Amino acid sequence: MNRLAGKTAIVTGGAAGIGRACVMRMAEEGAKVAIFDRLEAEGKALAAELTALGHEVAFWPVDVTDEAGLKAAIDDAAARFGGLQVLVNNAGISGSPKPTDQVTEAEWDLVQAVNVKGVFFGTKHAVPHLRASGQGSIINMSSIAGLIGIGGIAAYHASKGAVRLMSRNDAITYAPEKIRVNSIHPAYIWTPMVENHLRATAPDFEAAKAAAGAAHPIGTMGEPDDVAWAVVWLASDEAKFVTGAEIVIDGGYTAR
Ligand code: BGC
Repeated sequence: MNRLAGKTAIVTGGAAGIGRACVMRMAEEGAKVAIFDRLEAEGKALAAELTALGHEVAFWPVDVTDEAGLKAAIDDAAARFGGLQVLVNNAGISGSPKPTDQVTEAEWDLVQAVNVKGVFFGTKHAVPHLRASGQGSIINMSSIAGLIGIGGIAAYHASKGAVRLMSRNDAITYAPEKIRVNSIHPAYIWTPMVENHLRATAPDFEAAKAAAGAAHPIGTMGEPDDVAWAVVWLASDEAKFVTGAEIVIDGGYTAR
């Protein structure tokens, strides 16, 4: 219940999907949690729900591609909660499901802006607060698409591969300051992002959903909590010796 007592965490993309599960599990483990998201109604509702349960949770409307807005929200959250120890760079989009030869420059740029620049901006402006805390944990949401090729969604693969090595490099950079940086690599997790992706790509949605599950040796897609528990661990002092790690949560997808 108190694995994260005394810590404040920011979760970008915290209103839905994996981010929402991270917010809930971290709050239950005693963290103060700042939800950053563009989805105002969902973010406010989640903050209200958790506040009513006695947790310290608040929502900030944030677009991670807006550096000034993201910095202001990070500074504000740290001021409100009395410091910052954890940043979960989770906000991400799958982008247009197209092969490289069909992706437009604008489609490419949007995916990199959210998935790569958003992680850069978040890390850049959280580090001064983590440094002031004397320790920190940055958790970057990559994907199995940052480890292997699956085909299609070209811009997404490029972005998640970038997140993987941004994480490793930052792990080395900040290790002397006890700021740990790790990446997480989920396979298909049943979230609105994956649901929307399947609806956009497949003529038969139910068949595509079943096939997506069957692509994992374990036989199903994962659930947001399957990722959130790893986030809780990486955020906690239980993982104080863990940095530069790539935590694969994929039902065996990449084990082949
Ligand atoms: C939600 C489910 C939803 C699924 C697919 C999950 O994050 O908790 O309610 O069915 O995403 O959109």
